[in-house]
Amino acid sequence: MLNQDSEYQSCIQNSERVSWRVDELLPRDTVIDFSRRILSDALTGTESISCLSAGEKLALNQIRSNSYAHLFLFLEEYVVALMSQRAGLELHGNSTHMRALLRFTEEEIKHQQLFARYTDMFARGFNVAPALLDNHVQVARAIMSKSHLAVLIFNLHMELMTQQHYVETIRNNEREALDPVFCNMLKHHWLEEAQHARLDYLEAQKILARAPETLDSAMNEYAEILGALRGTLSRQLELDLQTFEKAIGRTLTESERSEILAAQERSYVWTFIGMGMKTPLFLSRLRALSPAAEQRVLELAPQYYCN
Ligand SMILES: [Fe+2]
Ligand SMILES: [Fe+2]
Repeated sequence: MLNQDSEYQSCIQNSERVSWRVDELLPRDTVIDFSRRILSDALTGTESISCLSAGEKLALNQIRSNSYAHLFLFLEEYVVALMSQRAGLELHGNSTHMRALLRFTEEEIKHQQLFARYTDMFARGFNVAPALLDNHVQVARAIMSKSHLAVLIFNLHMELMTQQHYVETIRNNEREALDPVFCNMLKHHWLEEAQHARLDYLEAQKILARAPETLDSAMNEYAEILGALRGTLSRQLELDLQTFEKAIGRTLTESERSEILAAQERSYVWTFIGMGMKTPLFLSRLRALSPAAEQRVLELAPQYYCN
């Protein structure tokens, strides 16, 4: 058996060092600056849409940014289920592992509360009520119907991707033009996700040390989760367009709608799926688990705009 106690202990220490409170990061009297873009264009893909005015691009960027916060709140529902189950497996077992996994669980619930507070603030300040998906429990149950190994690999993908999101947001001097509240949230989200990504990998190693033959089927399930996530993103995009038409006070023509849908579908899939598959640390972690796992991701990548 692997002895990774020092790694789990190091995750606890780092978690204690970077820990933050929701009230510090997003005080209840925070005001969102709706004169600025919120997320980088690298994550929202609104600037290249030719049929929109500057004001309309700004509104779509803001709607996408709010949906980003909601989708993390939404997706972290399965992480809470996964990590509380992983922690429960260490009951009367390794207390260091259990403590690290319980901290992980608690932090994800905190992240959900942070994103929920943000979307509430957004709804209060934006000119129309945003439409957001509400089937988070159903999606979490569908993801949790897969093996723990598959969900850990998917979670490793998602958590390493949050670092890419922060990096994309602060580079190219774009940060000056963006609302600092969201940049700060992305930074602090990543500070805790960094330990989570290490724990995903350690837990995946733990499973593979006992049952190496389960990797192939876990990679098939990972591919199924990505396909289902793509469907969830499309449904949120439909809701974004409903919110957008209300926000700009006009109905889009058929050609405008198809241009916006194509650009936004590409942006959603790249931001939530493709960018994670291209993250170098994700690929190197998979290679360390098994070269076949990395190979499978490289084969899947082109359908998620990873050319
Ligand atoms: Fe999180
Ligand atoms: Fe996380």
